[in-house]
Amino acid sequence: MRMIKPNVYAVGVIDWDRTLFDELIPLPDGTTYNAYLIKGSEKTALLDTVEPELKEGLFENLIEAGVETIDYIVAHHGEQDHSGSIPDVLTLYPEAKVVANEKCKNTLMGLLHLEEEHFMIIQDGDTLSLGDKTLQFLDLPWVHWPETFGTYLQEDKALFPCDFFGSHLADSHLYVHDEALVYEAAKRYYAEIMMPFRGPIRKNLDKLAALDIDMIAPSHGPVYDKPQFILDAYADWVSDTVKNEVVIPFISMHNSTRTLVNHLVQALIDRGITVKRFDLTHADIGKLAISLVDAATVVIGSPTVLTEAHPLAAYAAILTNALRPKTRYVSIIGSYSWAGKMPKQISGLLTNLKAEVLEPVLVKGHPKEGGFAALDRLADEILAKHTALGIVE
Ligand code: FEO
Repeated sequence: MRMIKPNVYAVGVIDWDRTLFDELIPLPDGTTYNAYLIKGSEKTALLDTVEPELKEGLFENLIEAGVETIDYIVAHHGEQDHSGSIPDVLTLYPEAKVVANEKCKNTLMGLLHLEEEHFMIIQDGDTLSLGDKTLQFLDLPWVHWPETFGTYLQEDKALFPCDFFGSHLADSHLYVHDEALVYEAAKRYYAEIMMPFRGPIRKNLDKLAALDIDMIAPSHGPVYDKPQFILDAYADWVSDTVKNEVVIPFISMHNSTRTLVNHLVQALIDRGITVKRFDLTHADIGKLAISLVDAATVVIGSPTVLTEAHPLAAYAAILTNALRPKTRYVSIIGSYSWAGKMPKQISGLLTNLKAEVLEPVLVKGHPKEGGFAALDRLADEILAKHTALGIVE
C-alpha cells in the first residue's frame, strides 16, 4: 500500500510469476494488477480490484490503509484481472455500490453474476463527489473492451484509465524509474492489447487532451508521474506514420523457405531497409507484435504442408490479422512440391489489413536462380513502395 496523492493509495498487487495472459500473450516480465483507494472527506471509493488469485494482497492493503467502509467500487472494465475480486470485496464491504456504465454493468452481470441492485450507473462525463475529492467519469471505449471507462480525479489532476497506457511489468518501483524499460513494456502491451483499436484510441487521446493531467495511474505497470512520456509514445504508435521496416515471420521444414528468407533479408539490408526476422519455431510473439507497430511491410514465409500453409505460418497470419497493424504492404514467400495454393491461403487470412499484397514468390523445391531473382524484384518493389511513402532516408 503506497500513497500516490493525498489520501489516494495504490492498493493493487504485483504478480511476479505470471508468464501468460489470456493464455495467449507471453509476459516475460510478469505484471501488476493495480487498484486505487481514494479516501474523500465524506466517502471512500475503490477503483478496480485485482486478479482473484491474488485478492488476499488487495485485502491486506485495504486493512493497512485502515479502510472500514467502502462506499463505491468503480469498475472501469469487465475483464476479470480487474473485476474478478469485486464479489469478494462486496462480501467484505456489503454496503458498497459498484459504479459502472451500462455496458460494463451488463458485462459484469454476465461474467460475475452480479445483480442489478449492486450497481450505480454512471454516464460519460458524470461526476461523483467524495467530499473534498471529485471523480469525473470518461467513457474510453476499446481500451480494452467496448465498456471500458476511466476516472479523472479533478482535485489531484490524476487520471485512472484502467488498461489504457498500461504495461505488463512487475516492478518494485511504484513510478516509472527507467523510461526505456517501461517504453518497451508499454509498447508490447499496446501491440498485443490496444493496436486492433488504433482508431478509437486516437479519439480517446483527443478526449483526454482536454484534461490537465498531472499523473496517469493505469491498471497494469508503473504509475506515470511524468505522463507526457507515455502520451507522446501513444501519439506516435496510433499515428498513420510507418517506418522503413520489413517484418518477416517464417517457418521452414527443410531449409527451402529459410534459404528464401535469408536471401530476401540480405536483399532488403542491401537496399537500406531495416529487417525484423522471426523464426516461428521459437519466436516471442510479443516481440513480433511490437515489430508490427511501426513496420511498413510484412512478408510471411511458409513451406507447403501437404497442400496448405504450415500451421505456424497460418498462426502468424491470423495473429497479424487480429492485431490490425498499420502495415501498408504484405507479401508471401515459400516453397512447394506438388501444390501451390499456400500464398492464396495466407493472403486470405490477412483481410483485416488495409494493405496491398505484393506479388508473392513461390518456388518449387529448393530455390534456384529464378527464385532468387524474383526475391530481388520483390526487394526492389518494397524499396520503391517505401520510397514513395517518403520513409527511406
Ligand atoms: Fe487488464 Fe483488459 O484487462
